Amino acid sequence: MIIAPSVLSADFGNLQRDIEMINNAEADWFHIDIMDGVFVPNISFGFPVLKQIKKHAKKTIDVHLMIVEPQRYIDEFCIQGADIISVHIEACTHLHRAIQQIKSLNIKAGVAINPHTPVSALQDIILDIDLVCMMSVNPGFGGQKFIQNTYKKVKELKQMIITSGSNALIEIDGGVDFDNAVLLKEAGADVLVAGNTVFSHPSPTEAIAKLKQI
Ligand code: DX5
Ligand code: ZN
Repeated sequence: MIIAPSVLSADFGNLQRDIEMINNAEADWFHIDIMDGVFVPNISFGFPVLKQIKKHAKKTIDVHLMIVEPQRYIDEFCIQGADIISVHIEACTHLHRAIQQIKSLNIKAGVAINPHTPVSALQDIILDIDLVCMMSVNPGFGGQKFIQNTYKKVKELKQMIITSGSNALIEIDGGVDFDNAVLLKEAGADVLVAGNTVFSHPSPTEAIAKLKQI
């Protein structure tokens, strides 16, 4: 299981400390949530913060764009250090073009889907992508309650990936905790994003290790 702590839940007054914690823990990726206040009802952070994260981070930078017209900013996110960029299917009229744009930069391309978006919407893009970021909460905030319908969607997506011969990883984003992580693995998840479960734990390092053991 790939563990991707969400930097959104870090202490931004001690960002370098929290980045070093992730570097030294059993985490695999840094999950970076970019929110524009339009696609989602919240604003997180942008390029100057990502630049500082990149300066200290020693692991894969997984950027989740919760923004409208993401194609306008894909190149700059790559320049600022993204190793993976996911765009929302709901934010892209020309999704295939956006995915090709990401891949032309020689980084990995992902598609994020909201809880209400059916897995079948991925059918004609699944062979072109490296990752599906499946939202298990409505995007916009950390610390929300996991939506139970996600298990069914993960199983359906796993089936689509196997049948089509796609190499896409299944990433689960939102409300992941120690209990649902076990069921998510059984359903076919490859990557777990965790914000609150890691950063509200008395020992974030231990929380990461516990998720990693699953
Ligand atoms: C939600 C973000 C998530 C969030 C996860 O909009 O995409 O990545 O930070 O945080 P938790 O694990 O606290 O739900
Ligand atoms: Zn996210």
